[in-house]
Amino acid sequence: MTVPSVAKAAGKTAITRDGFTTGLGVLAATLGSAVGLGNIWKFPALTGMNGGAAFILIYLLCTLLVGLPVMIAEQMLGRHARADAIRTFRKLAPGRFPWWITGVMGFAAAFLIMGFYTEVAGWVFAYIVKAASGQVLSTDPAVTSAAFEGLVTSPLLSLVVQWVVLLLIGAIIMMGVSKGIERTTKRLMPVLFGLLVLVGLRSLTLPGAGEGLAFLFRPDFSAISGEVVLIAMGLAFFKLSLGMGTMLTYGSYFREDQNIPATATRVMLADLTVSLLAGIAIFPAVFAFGFAPDAGPSLLFVTIPAVFTAMPLGSVFMVLFFILCAVAATGAMLSLLEVPVSILNEQFQMSRRRATVITLVGLALVGSLAALSSSATAGLKLFGMNAFDLYDYTTSNILLPLGGLLICLFVGWVWGYKNMKAALSNHGALSNERVITGLFLLVKFVAPVLILIIMLNGLGIV
Ligand code: PHE
Repeated sequence: MTVPSVAKAAGKTAITRDGFTTGLGVLAATLGSAVGLGNIWKFPALTGMNGGAAFILIYLLCTLLVGLPVMIAEQMLGRHARADAIRTFRKLAPGRFPWWITGVMGFAAAFLIMGFYTEVAGWVFAYIVKAASGQVLSTDPAVTSAAFEGLVTSPLLSLVVQWVVLLLIGAIIMMGVSKGIERTTKRLMPVLFGLLVLVGLRSLTLPGAGEGLAFLFRPDFSAISGEVVLIAMGLAFFKLSLGMGTMLTYGSYFREDQNIPATATRVMLADLTVSLLAGIAIFPAVFAFGFAPDAGPSLLFVTIPAVFTAMPLGSVFMVLFFILCAVAATGAMLSLLEVPVSILNEQFQMSRRRATVITLVGLALVGSLAALSSSATAGLKLFGMNAFDLYDYTTSNILLPLGGLLICLFVGWVWGYKNMKAALSNHGALSNERVITGLFLLVKFVAPVLILIIMLNGLGIV
């Protein structure tokens, strides 16, 4: 059954929930959520701007000490409650403190992230066409830059590419969890890995590739500040789809016998591999052709096409590369969309189809401000940022860490060790007590303290 049917029986609402059908499906969908433009667009851009290996090191620490425990906590809560991000907290925390606010924040974060994410995904889709038709074939960044500007400063084009993306993922989400999300991600993930290895090998075998590798793996700590640490932690949250109920919602579709700590660790490691592979695909080529590594968000759309054009067989690899980005973005957007759709579906008892349509309309509205932020709404600024940058900055650096903090506090101080042990050992079926004890300490003490300090320091509050 793909559409959860809502049946009223004796005044009570019983929901037959859809879910992932196989362990492999769980892995594909969860990894599909984690792997996305974060690996290919954000990770290289932020690494390039913030000192290369030193930034990666801090990002790694945040992933291990904060990201992984939060991911496990989310999946655990979702599977235990078998509910959307708001209802999960209603079910598990009926007390005075409104923990369900975490779900409401997740609902808002999903809209804001999708607001800019669908636009970047739209550019990626457009670039498949541009690369195939030779429009961005130039080794001169001034030419590729003009091509990119032409796209982002056109209000019509910006909106159209965003709508195409919204319609595509809306159609998949309407098919449901097992037939839509699970089936799509299972097919797309192997394609993504294959393409990434191919492009990585091409880049590594270029003469002069070593300098790019050195940049990726030799740390320069002088570039690190409080704000950079916050950005690294924000990236860890964004990368692993944490702090907004995505992993919680997916956890609610997990099978009972899924080993959550093992699954989460695999997803974290695979996601890290993809980020590093993306770095290996991009930086050696950037250095080999004498481009600057710190171009920021436009690295993917301005620098990369010029780099590809400069290499032998570059135009073919450029098309493959943007297909890869589109594949990665699709799995991530499905998981972003699933958060509000499942909330509307279950909390407000709407059919899945209606929940999807309403969410898409909302997203088109919220997203249009980001889509038009280089044209019609360019002058619209808050805290010196246009809508695109504001959505991006506030979600990664404020909303997601705050959501993660609430989840840690809830699990560590309210739900408690006994519940966590029962849930993560699959009620005694797994003998992983030491792992659980370690995780509990991370969730209760280490992660909340780190999140608080990094946020307060990075935002300039202390
Ligand atoms: N993890 C995704 C990426 O790296 C983005 C994402 C964030 C997806 C939050 C879901 C929730 O691209």
